[in-house]
Amino acid sequence: MIIAIDGPAASGKGTLAKRVAAHYGLHHLDTGRLYRAVARDTLAAGGDPSDAGAALAAARALDAKSLDDPDLRTPELGEAASLVAWHPEVRKTLLAYQRAFARRKPGAVIDGRDIGTIVCPDADVKLFVTATPEERARRRYREFKDDGIDVTEKEVLADILARDTRDENRAVAPLRQPEDAVLLDTTNLAIDAAFRAAISLIDAAMGRAGRAG
Ligand code: CDP
Repeated sequence: MIIAIDGPAASGKGTLAKRVAAHYGLHHLDTGRLYRAVARDTLAAGGDPSDAGAALAAARALDAKSLDDPDLRTPELGEAASLVAWHPEVRKTLLAYQRAFARRKPGAVIDGRDIGTIVCPDADVKLFVTATPEERARRRYREFKDDGIDVTEKEVLADILARDTRDENRAVAPLRQPEDAVLLDTTNLAIDAAFRAAISLIDAAMGRAGRAG
């Protein structure tokens, strides 16, 4: 079973995907971490994330064991990740890892920007998670504050809008709602309510509403 969860920056898809995976006993892959790790390694090697060659070298050498790095969640790496994610060669290099992960038994919940469209077009269920930019900025700002990262809510909103624009307008694998995805707008939903809504949408999509619980 494969559940694809896509959505814009800070839409809460990561937290949701983790909880959905635990609920169904599936593996979870946050694909944003792959792009963030490539950005981290590009910068560590003295490269420019906008340079395809530098980003591709980091993508080819990526060590999956380094994906748990807590420092991947900084605003700087979010920005740099959306720059390395622009390069088609980088995306192609990361595709094999993602597809192999999707084949793991008993199944996987994979979240990102292009999971339902490119990585797993045959996923059993596709969710597109969104919220207004202001609400997403508010949530991400709180996370940064909790982690002791010094930013203003205005800066977070500007970063989110810039990344969304870049992610939606790139030539390869742009962020968009897959035609066969179910939309989940979490603007007015706290995480528990969003989780319950996701589970009922997934159960309904699987044609077995009410069985899982
Ligand atoms: O957690 P947040 O929504 O801030 O971002 P993320 O999921 O960690 O992704 C960081 C960046 O990686 C995004 O802005 C995208 O540019 C890129 N990305 C992508 O292009 N494709 C994916 N499947 C996942 C992330």
